[in-house]
Parts: sequence; structure tokens; C-alpha cells
Amino acid sequence: MNFKTLTELHNFYDEASKCDLKKTATQAVFGAGNPESKIVFIGEAPGKKEDELGVPFVGAAGKFLDEMLAEIKMNRSDIYITNTVKYRPTENRDPTDEEKEACKEWLYEELNFIKPKLIVFLGRHAMNTFFPVEKISEVHGKILSKKFLNLDTQNFFALYHPAAALYNGGMRETLMKDFKKIPLFFARQ
Ligand code: URA
Repeated sequence: MNFKTLTELHNFYDEASKCDLKKTATQAVFGAGNPESKIVFIGEAPGKKEDELGVPFVGAAGKFLDEMLAEIKMNRSDIYITNTVKYRPTENRDPTDEEKEACKEWLYEELNFIKPKLIVFLGRHAMNTFFPVEKISEVHGKILSKKFLNLDTQNFFALYHPAAALYNGGMRETLMKDFKKIPLFFARQ
């Protein structure tokens, strides 16, 4: 589809969405940030605060993400950030395969509108949408290169989800270490 703006794209998919979560969510949480960015981060699904405000990563995980971005001299206006599933799963449970599938075309179109050089997965739900058999414990911190038929971007980078790492010292340290590799990818371009 040919959308003139990201807002047009989001409104189209929100109206057309058949995702069951739409019935219980306050609103869709659209991706946010710089649509011209060379880097797109993909999370899992909106939480309570995101559902209330309609903005991704505004809760505790988002605060931690901002700290990591600052470590690599970046902020939200340098990146674009979105979620695998655009509606909040009830009780903050994991999104189901059906829910992820229901938002998949929306996500692909969003990515093809931006055409980033690098797509960063925040957690296994985002990663498994593209790489269904890989394990995040094995591929985190590594560039995954693959050409998908319907996607312009070919380089991916998997990270642990900031919410999972927030209160886990070891995982937090690993996530920060992996995060600091992001500028190396762009230095090599
Ligand atoms: N966690 C996510 O994966 N996405 C959000 O928007 C917030 C928390």
C-alpha cells in the first residue's frame, strides 16, 4: 500500500485491525520517534501506562531504555520505536501467536515506510516474529542478516527486553554491554 505519512498508515491499520485485543485496550499504541531514523526498535506490546497515554515505552522499561540510549549518546528523537502488537494484552500477559499475526502486516508496512538500516528487537517476541526458531539467549548481541521477501531492511540485532533485565543484575549487565555495540554497526557502514 502507498501511504503518504506514517499517521495515515497507522490510522488505516488501526481501523482495519481484527486483533481481539482491540476490544479491551484503551487505544492503539502507534510507533513513535523519528520516521527518518536509520534505526528502529521493536518491543513486545504496550503495558498499562502505554495503553493510557497511547505512546510506546513510557513506563519503567522505557526509562531504562532512555538510560541505555544516553550511554550511546542517543535519545528518542534519534530513533523510531514501535511494538510487535499495537494493543495492550490484558493483565500484561504475553501476546499470543494469533495476536502477533494480527499485527504483522501493520509492522512490516511500518518498517518499509521507514526503511531503517538496522532493526533492533527488544526481546524474544519481536525477534521470533522474524526469526521463529532462534533463541534470544543464544543470539543476543549479534547482528543477524537475512533478506526477507517483503522487507527492505536486511540487518537485525537482538537484545533482551529491558523489562526482563530491569530487576535482574546479570541480564541488565549483558543488555547494557550488547546495547553499546549498536554504534559499532553504524561505524562500519
Ligand atoms: N514494553 C514493551 O514491549 N512495549 C512497550 O511499549 C512498553 C513496554
